[in-house]
Amino acid sequence: MVKICCIGAGYVGGPTMAVIALKCPSVEVAVVDISEARIKAWNSDQLPIYEPGLEEVVKQCRGKNLFFSSSVEKHVSEADIIFVSVNTPTKTRGLGAGKAADLTYWESAARMIADVSKSDKIVVEKSTVPVKTAEAIEKILTHNSKGISFQILSNPEFLAEGTAIQDLLSPDRVLIGGRETPGGSKAIKALKDVYAQWVPEDRIITANLWSAELSKLAANAFLAQRISSVNAMSALCEATGADVSQVSHAIGKDTRIGPKFLNSSVGFGGSCFQKDILNLVYICECNGLIEVANYWKQVVKVNDYQKSRFVNRVVSSMFNTVSGKKIAILGFAFKKDTGDTRETPAIDVCKGLLGDKAKLSIYDPQVTKDQIERDLSMSKFEWDHPVQLQPTVPAAGDLIWDVSADAYEAVKDAHGLCILTEWDEFRKLDYQKIFNSMQKPAFVFDGRNVVDAAKLREIGFIVYAIGKPLDPWLKDMPAVVA
Ligand code: NAI
Repeated sequence: MVKICCIGAGYVGGPTMAVIALKCPSVEVAVVDISEARIKAWNSDQLPIYEPGLEEVVKQCRGKNLFFSSSVEKHVSEADIIFVSVNTPTKTRGLGAGKAADLTYWESAARMIADVSKSDKIVVEKSTVPVKTAEAIEKILTHNSKGISFQILSNPEFLAEGTAIQDLLSPDRVLIGGRETPGGSKAIKALKDVYAQWVPEDRIITANLWSAELSKLAANAFLAQRISSVNAMSALCEATGADVSQVSHAIGKDTRIGPKFLNSSVGFGGSCFQKDILNLVYICECNGLIEVANYWKQVVKVNDYQKSRFVNRVVSSMFNTVSGKKIAILGFAFKKDTGDTRETPAIDVCKGLLGDKAKLSIYDPQVTKDQIERDLSMSKFEWDHPVQLQPTVPAAGDLIWDVSADAYEAVKDAHGLCILTEWDEFRKLDYQKIFNSMQKPAFVFDGRNVVDAAKLREIGFIVYAIGKPLDPWLKDMPAVVA
C-alpha cells in the first residue's frame, strides 16, 4: 500500500489530501501539523475550515484511509510520498522584506524529513514557493541524506477556496514538475499514478521543476491582473457614466478574453494573490528585470487604490466624516463560501473607516468574532504563520468595533452599510426593513455589486455601486484618492 504524508493541515493540505484519500482507496493518507489544535479540529465534527462539500468527503474517509495526526515524525518516516503544504509568508525583515517569500517553515520541514527518513522518499512541493526552491530543498535533503535517495517534485495547487472540492475532483489541470533524469521521471510517474486514479491523463501535465514553480506564481499573477484591470476600468466607468458590468459583459464575449474573473469589486484578497505577486516582483528584481517587476507591482497598487477609493467614497458621501457614525459591514471573508479572511479587502476598508473614527458593526455568516478581532489587530503579513506563532488578541474592551449575529442586527440604527463579500444571503435581504431601521439619509455602499441599485434607490437609499453610474448625491460629494 502506498503511504502518503502531508505536512501542513491547512486550506490546501486538508482538502487536497481528503480528495486523494476519497479517490484512491488503496492509498493511506496521513495529514500532520505542528498545530495540535488544528489536528484536533480535523478529527472533530467542527472542521477547522469551511469549504462546501469538504465535511462529506472527510467523513467518508476519516479513520479508513485518511488520518489527521500531530505525530509528524512518525508519519513522515513511514511515508513513500511526502507533500509539504506549510505556510510560505512574505518576509517582514531583512533581505527582501515586504516582498520575498519566507521559507523558514519549509526549511524546517525539509530538515525534519532528512532527520527522520530511513527509506527513499519522494518529496512534493505543494506550497507555493519561489522559483528554484526545489533546488535549495534538494540541497538540504541530499547533504543530510545518510545514503537515502530523495526525489523532489513540484506539484503546485491551483484550487480556489469556496470551490476547492469541486476543483480537486475535476481539476482543469494537474501540474507535476520534476528533474529530467531517470530518477526524476520515475518519481513523476509515481505521483502521476496517484492522480490518474480520477484525473484524465490529458489533464496531468509535466514540466521541469522551475517551470512548474514559476507556473503557479504566473497563474496567480494573471488572475489578479484581470481583477485589477477590471477594477481600473471601474474607476473610469464612475468618472464617465459607463457601467462596468456592461463593459465586462461586452469584453468577456470575446473568446480571446472570456467571461471569467471580470467582476469589479472592492479588491481581491485571499492568502495567495498579493503574496505571490510580491514574490514574483522580488524574483524579477533579483534578476535585474526592473520593468517587468514594476509591471506586476502595479497590479497590487491598483488593488490598494481600489480599497482606498471605496473608503473615500464612504467618507466623502457622508459629509466628509464618519466619526461616531455607525457603519454596518456585511461580509468579512475575502469571498463567498469561505470563512477565510486572509488579506480580505474588508480588513483595509474597516481599518480605513476606523481611522476616521467610525463605529463598525460587522456581520459575516462564516467568520467568528475572534477571527475579526485578530485580523483588525494584526500587522501586515503577520497572519501567514502557524496559529500558535501569531500575536495574541488584545482584550475585547480595547476594541471599538462590534460583531453582530445577523445582518439585521448589524444595520440597526446605522448611517450606512457596506457590502464587502458577495454572500448570496445579502442579495435576498429585506432592504425595505433595513431602510426602516437605519438613520436617514441611509447609504448603501456595494463593494461587490450584489444589490439591485435601482430598487434600493426606489426605497430611498443613496447607493454607491462599484463602477456603476453615480447617484447625483455622490457626484456632488466627489471622493479624492490621495
Ligand atoms: P495554512 O496556513 O492554512 O496551513 C499551513 C499549515 O502548515 C498550518 O496549519 C501550520 O501549522 C502548518 N505548519 C507550518 N510549519 C509546519 C511544520 N514545520 N510542520 C508541520 N506543520 C507545519 O496555509 P494554506 O492556505 O494551506 O497554504 C499552504 C501553502 O499552499 C502556501 O504556500 C500557500 O501559498 C499555498 N497555496 C494556498 C492556496 C489557498 O487557496 N489557500 C492555494 C494554492 C496554494
